Amino acid sequence: MLQAWGTLYAQKDSVVFQAGKNSFRTNCSGCHSIHQEIYGPMLGSISKKRPEDWLIAFIKNSRKVIRSGDPYATTLFNKFNQQQMPAFEHLSESEIKAILYYIELESKQPNLFLNDAAMPAVNNTSIIEGKLAFQEHCTMCHFIHKESDFAPALGSVTKRHSREWLIAFIQNSQKKVKANDPYAVHLYHAFDQHVMTTMLFLEPKEITDILNYIEFASTQDAAYTGKLNKDEYRKQAAIEIRKVTMKYSVIPLTSLALIVFSLLFLLIFLYQVYRFVILL
Ligand code: HEC
Ligand code: HEC
Repeated sequence: MLQAWGTLYAQKDSVVFQAGKNSFRTNCSGCHSIHQEIYGPMLGSISKKRPEDWLIAFIKNSRKVIRSGDPYATTLFNKFNQQQMPAFEHLSESEIKAILYYIELESKQPNLFLNDAAMPAVNNTSIIEGKLAFQEHCTMCHFIHKESDFAPALGSVTKRHSREWLIAFIQNSQKKVKANDPYAVHLYHAFDQHVMTTMLFLEPKEITDILNYIEFASTQDAAYTGKLNKDEYRKQAAIEIRKVTMKYSVIPLTSLALIVFSLLFLLIFLYQVYRFVILL
């Protein structure tokens, strides 16, 4: 745990991460967020969902990939009402890799405040029931707005596949893997062959509710818990995250060790003095 925090923060300071972050801000953040669907799909976990060469080709020129008849790209394009993502031919492969690296780390960022349950009140029965069912069957592994230690972020997932595909996958993901579905096979390996529990007991109607909830929640700002106004909230979040980082950082641990050692030395020294005096 300690080490995980340590490494995450170490990587976050790396040159590649910073370059990717800056490039993402300049080129992508107008349409994309890693934790929320805006004009384009939410990008959390995308570097694990799709092969790297596919991502590079799509980011360089999505129109070319769609025109080649790629079924995944076609579904996505249609679900986003055929909005064309601009081409980024001028970005080099290593610049795109840096962006993907930034997305990869940021997908799992230890933002304690990303709250899946944060959403405005809705009076849509399907979404309300879907939320309850999601909490019952899915939250032990999945978040919607970020990646967990062993399962992908689910934001925007309904824009990437047909409903039939999703229902079949959720009921029995291994069946898709065994049938050599290329998407399912890649995802399964990207998540170190963690097997998603079969959900054959869920009726298509229940899964449809869950998917309606995921679709709705994907577009909500989950960095907002609803209790504070947004600016206030973001300030608080920054303070909390700094506290956690400090707590696990090396500096307090080393100073603690130093204090303990000095006390020990002092005790030994005093004992020796005491013995010396007694002997005299
Ligand atoms: C003008 C808005 C816009 C900008 C800017 C933009 N995108 Fe997109 N992006 C989209 C849309 C819309 C889609 C959905 C597919 C489509 O409609 O072609 C998409 C899809 C994607 C996908 C596929 C995601 C998936 O769900 O499989 C990736 C990856 C992606 N964008 C990465 C990027 C990166 C990286 C940048 C910056 C270099 C970027 N995009 C800039 C609008 C944009
Ligand atoms: C035991 C942990 C676990 C549980 C519980 C679980 N999942 Fe998963 N899920 C995973 C893992 C791991 C993957 C990655 C792929 C795989 O296992 O083949 C995944 C993949 C997915 C995908 C494909 C994601 C993508 O990006 O294309 C969807 C959709 C999904 N799960 C939905 C659900 C829903 C809905 C529930 C609750 C009804 C659920 N999962 C419960 C572990 C879990």
